[in-house]
Amino acid sequence: MRKKMVAGNWKMNTTFQEGETLAGAIVGKKGEAPGDVLLIVAPPFTHLSALAPPLKAAGVGVAAQNCAAEAQGAYTGEVSARMLASIGVQYCIIGHSERREYYGETNAVLLKKVRQALDVGLHPIFCIGEVLAEREAGRHFDVVRTQLEDAILPLSPADFERIIIAYEPVWAIGTGKTATAGQAQEIHAYIRNVLAAKFGALAHDTVLLYGGSCKPSNAGELFAQPDVDGGLIGGASLVADDFIAIANAF
Ligand code: 13P
Repeated sequence: MRKKMVAGNWKMNTTFQEGETLAGAIVGKKGEAPGDVLLIVAPPFTHLSALAPPLKAAGVGVAAQNCAAEAQGAYTGEVSARMLASIGVQYCIIGHSERREYYGETNAVLLKKVRQALDVGLHPIFCIGEVLAEREAGRHFDVVRTQLEDAILPLSPADFERIIIAYEPVWAIGTGKTATAGQAQEIHAYIRNVLAAKFGALAHDTVLLYGGSCKPSNAGELFAQPDVDGGLIGGASLVADDFIAIANAF
């Protein structure tokens, strides 16, 4: 049985004090979510060392939103995977479309980040997905296949087992436009097949999250699809009630 998972990507939102309040509200309401759904939150770097202990004590997983491609050294402004692991972070979002688009992160750089995260015991939440023009040209299958070929298929089976994949169509992120449940299932099944062609039965256990304008009103239909194992939530994860309601949509 694959795990059910709902992860909240706070992006560059909340001051430290606002983040503390939001994390406290999520911890307070966690009991209202089904026990078999793993909740994860990804606050900004500045919040992680203070928020990780109370979140983890409540059984909420803690993720970073990014990590450096190098292990350590003269890389001003970067945060290494080892630093994250040292403060109790367990997961790391890698390859979000906003990092690919605004910070020029290529699949080659992302493979390095994935390896850095794996080396220190973090679970990468690796993001893939096509932009609108690629979807309209019918190229979405090729785009996600290439993203996987370049950054995930080179991994060993033992490393691959620790990967979570988030399919986030870029045209659905922050736009209010969600992929239909049918579109999500179609491409999630395709992604699982690409993974299975390399990793065999291990791919049946890979958690595949959907992300992009996922909210309480549409999460139920999305999560009911056989290859959608949960969500990576942006805007709606900033409201504790909505985040918990999404977990209740399974
Ligand atoms: P929204 O839920 O705000 O569309 O963001 C999705 C996302 O990018 C999560 O990583």
